[in-house]
Amino acid sequence: MSRPADDPASLLPVLDAALRPSKWDDYVGQKQIKANVRIAIDAAKKRGGMPEHILFYGPPGVGKTTLAYLVAATLESPLKSTSGVAIERAGDLAAILTNLEPNTVLFIDEIHRLSHKIEELLYPALESGHLDIILGKGPSARTVELALPPFTLVGATTRIASLSGPLRSRFGGGTYQLDFYGDDDLRDIIRRSAELLGLDAPADVIESIAARSRATPRVANALLKRVRDFSEVHERPLSAALTEEACKLFGIDELGLTKDDRRYLEMLLTSFHGGPAGVRALASALHEDPDTIENVYEPYLLRLGLIERSLRGRILTDKGRAYLQS
Ligand SMILES: Nc1ncnc2c1ncn2[C@@H]1O[C@H](COP(=O)(O)OP(=O)(O)O)[C@@H](O)[C@H]1O
Ligand SMILES: [Mg+2]
Repeated sequence: MSRPADDPASLLPVLDAALRPSKWDDYVGQKQIKANVRIAIDAAKKRGGMPEHILFYGPPGVGKTTLAYLVAATLESPLKSTSGVAIERAGDLAAILTNLEPNTVLFIDEIHRLSHKIEELLYPALESGHLDIILGKGPSARTVELALPPFTLVGATTRIASLSGPLRSRFGGGTYQLDFYGDDDLRDIIRRSAELLGLDAPADVIESIAARSRATPRVANALLKRVRDFSEVHERPLSAALTEEACKLFGIDELGLTKDDRRYLEMLLTSFHGGPAGVRALASALHEDPDTIENVYEPYLLRLGLIERSLRGRILTDKGRAYLQS
C-alpha cells in the first residue's frame, strides 16, 4: 500500500533510521564493548588491513545491528548485510562471498541459524580467506580453492548457546555480550531520541518511559513514539500522567510487562502449579514458538526475578506470585 508523500506516516521509516546512532558518541552505554571494538578497528586501520571477525550476542533490541553499522562506518568499509536464515544453500554463501567488494564488513544477523553444512563452508573463508568449491560429481569431482577478497565478518545472535563451538572459536576479534541497559543509559537514549523527534519531553516523562522499556533501547524508542502519537491525537502535551494513561491503553504496566508476559506467568502458575515447567510444554500451552519464549519473553522476566530457570524447567518465584496478585 503506498501512502501520499505528505502523509506523516510515510516518514516513519526515515525517523526509525534517524534514531539509530551513526556515531560512537551517540551509542549510549556498553562502554567496555565500545572500547574493545574500537581498539581492534584502529589497530587494523593502522596496519592497513581489516580487523578479525567479531561476534555480538544478547537479547533483541540492545544494539547489535547498530554496532555492526558502526564497525563498517568506522572502517569506511562497505557493509553487506544478510542473515543466517537467508543463507540456505552452499551456493547462496558462495555467491555472497565471491561478490564482496574488498574490505567489506559482512554482517550475518541471527548467525546461529546457519546450517551445519554452511558453517563448514564458512570456516576456511574465515580462517584463510578462501572457499573450497566442489566441481563435478562422483569420482571425477574435484575441489577448487577460490581466493576471496579480504572481509570482516560481524555476527550477531540472540542465542549464543546454539552456536557451534568451532564457529564460536573463529571470532578472533572478540565475542561480546550485550546486556540489558541500566536506567541512566535508557534515559540518555530516550532523551536523545526525543530531541531528534523534536519533542519537549519533561524529565518525569523520560523516567516513566524508561521504567517501562524492558531495559531495551528498541522498546524505549518504540514506546516514546507511541506516547508521542497519543499526545498528538489527544492534543495534550507530554506529561507523566499522559504517559501513564497511554501505557494503560497499550496494555503496558509499570514494569514494562504486556499481556503476553502476564499470560506466560499465569500459565506457569495455573497450568503448571508454579513449575518447574519445560520450555516446550510452556510454549505449546501458550501457542508460541519455544525460541520466542526463551529469547524474547524470558530474559526480561528473569532479570526482574519473576521467574527462575532450573535444570527441570521454569519456576515462578515468590516475587512472580506477588506480581500476579497485585
Ligand atoms: N547503545 C545504544 N544507544 C542508542 N540507541 C541504541 C543503542 N542500542 C540500540 N539503540 C536503538 O535501538 C534500536 C535497536 O537496536 P538494534 O541495533 O537494531 O538492536 P539488535 O540488533 O540488538 O536487535 C536502534 O535502532 C537504536 O535506535
Ligand atoms: Mg538486529
